[in-house]
Amino acid sequence: MRSNNCGDLRTKDIGSNVLLCGWVDRCRDHGGVIFVDLRDSSGTIQITIDPDQGKELFTKAESLRNETVIQIKGQIRPRPDEAINKKLGTGTIEVLAEELTVLNAVRGNLPFAVSIHDEEPIREEIRLKHRYLDLRRERMNKNLRLRHQTIKAARSFLEKEGFLEIETPILTRSTPEGARDYLLPSRVCGGEWFALPQSPQLFKQLLMIGGLEKYYQLARCFRDEDLRADRQPEFTQLDIEMSFVTQEEIIKLNENLISAIWKETKGIKLPKPFPRLSWDEAMNRFGTDRPDTRYGMELKDVSDIFKGIGFKVFSNAIDKGGSVKCITVPNGNESISNVRIKPGGDIFSEVQKVGAGGLAFIRVRESEEIDTIGAIKDNLNDDQKLRLLEKTAAKPGDLILFGAGETVIVNKALDRIRQYIARELDLIPKSSDEIWNFIWIVDFPMFEFNAEENRYEALHHPFCAPNQNDLNDDNNNQEELEKKLPKARAQAFDLVLNGLELGGGSIRIHNAELQKTVLKTIGLPLKEAKNQFGFLIEALDMGAPPHGGLAFGMDRIVMLLAGEDSIRETIAFPKTQQARCLMTKAPSQVSNSQLDELHVESTWTEPE
Ligand code: AMO
Repeated sequence: MRSNNCGDLRTKDIGSNVLLCGWVDRCRDHGGVIFVDLRDSSGTIQITIDPDQGKELFTKAESLRNETVIQIKGQIRPRPDEAINKKLGTGTIEVLAEELTVLNAVRGNLPFAVSIHDEEPIREEIRLKHRYLDLRRERMNKNLRLRHQTIKAARSFLEKEGFLEIETPILTRSTPEGARDYLLPSRVCGGEWFALPQSPQLFKQLLMIGGLEKYYQLARCFRDEDLRADRQPEFTQLDIEMSFVTQEEIIKLNENLISAIWKETKGIKLPKPFPRLSWDEAMNRFGTDRPDTRYGMELKDVSDIFKGIGFKVFSNAIDKGGSVKCITVPNGNESISNVRIKPGGDIFSEVQKVGAGGLAFIRVRESEEIDTIGAIKDNLNDDQKLRLLEKTAAKPGDLILFGAGETVIVNKALDRIRQYIARELDLIPKSSDEIWNFIWIVDFPMFEFNAEENRYEALHHPFCAPNQNDLNDDNNNQEELEKKLPKARAQAFDLVLNGLELGGGSIRIHNAELQKTVLKTIGLPLKEAKNQFGFLIEALDMGAPPHGGLAFGMDRIVMLLAGEDSIRETIAFPKTQQARCLMTKAPSQVSNSQLDELHVESTWTEPE
């Protein structure tokens, strides 16, 4: 149907006869001559329709609406100098049309303009409802091409390294990645349910036990969890697993993989090795295990300065085993008023959202004096003031914000306002600045304690191997193992980029007894463990090799490469915040006969 792609034509093609297809991006009538911007997925080119070429052709062109699908036969000619458009690859040439065929008309009203010339923001709801139109627009076209290139670069790298791409089941049973499962009733096995995989974790381990040694997959994963800009109910992992490897080897391979992707898609050579932070240090300095290191305002623990101080909010927190930490906002005296920090203010409500009672603050004045809500100031002696200024490196004009209480809450509160204030004060570089602060977080704890349920939970998942240095040399001493395991670090690691978790992985447990002990530590009785993971435990006892791996969030990688703020911009047909597809209107109701067949009855009632 066509001889060329619109966007590929250049000056060298002048004089060629071409047959082009595409959409009418826009039409302009310039005193008797009609210009049509013809667009296909490669770009646009200007078509000139001159009345001298015949009345029929001209009449057809006069009635063209935007987004009409047409075929044009014509000849490439240079544009007059004054009409050259330097912004377009095809800007020096145009096609003098000889024939125009309408391949499909636009009959309904277009809900929004598709044209590359139209940069009006469009409500996301409308874009998602008519996603096929949205995909025609330049932004989505570019993002999906970038996604393709990213995947291609990853595949090509992994294939050179000898990895096999292997698919794992979608109809499976629940895997414990911490979210709710999407469940599917079985018609044949009445009363029983499949779960869609939250990740291929167990299957990839079984592939290692199956002797495949190097596996990867672009794996669709399903998690029924609260959605955010970086979370979708179904998303794609670049999932990797290897046998006979150390953590060091996995990290190195993946640094090379990420570097290959950045090189291929952006032409950027990333400096290696990527920096590393232990989980402890990340929590101490940033209050989070996915720190954005593109800006400062690090957390400082000032508990030692305030121990025993008359200001009870601080001293009580420390006495109870908690801490007092702070961040210093550069020139915060000018930018942040007291009202914003006190009850009712925006900064106050930010910390409330994570369960903190509020923030104390100190303003550092020109005279090196500090000024504050009375209570702290009145209780600080000169030596303490000096130590505080030294530890925070605060300068006159700076604002110091304090969190006091349980360390977990203090960290959460200060992490939250650190990010909030950085956004507010424009301290975060723009995505167009292309600053790539990769950082590996290592030495995660195996478990965290869930006080509400009074039990340990696996921080990553319960298949991560503990760090042998934190256990007894003698693994056979079960009692000793059970005692030390809850406090052990895991051989687990996350890759963080500019404050976003790109991926995570670990060395896995390949010993059945150790696996059972870990499951017991998270409160899973042996019977239940066997019921849920019996196949894995059994397989571990049949010559499981040492193995490990990781998974990257593919949508997140593309989002960052594209400089977008949401992974919805990197997925062809994403879901909304309510986990709906606005175009197909999924999820939808089904007939009672379908439910009957599946042995399911709905208990849903419309809320009043
Ligand atoms: P994890 O649960 O950390 O690890 O997931 C790996 C990566 O997947 C991405 N991700 C998501 N992306 C979009 N929407 C979501 N709802 C979502 N959830 C996670 C993140 C995350 O870092 N089996 C382990 C990996 C392993 O140990 O090998 C796993 O799934 O970028």
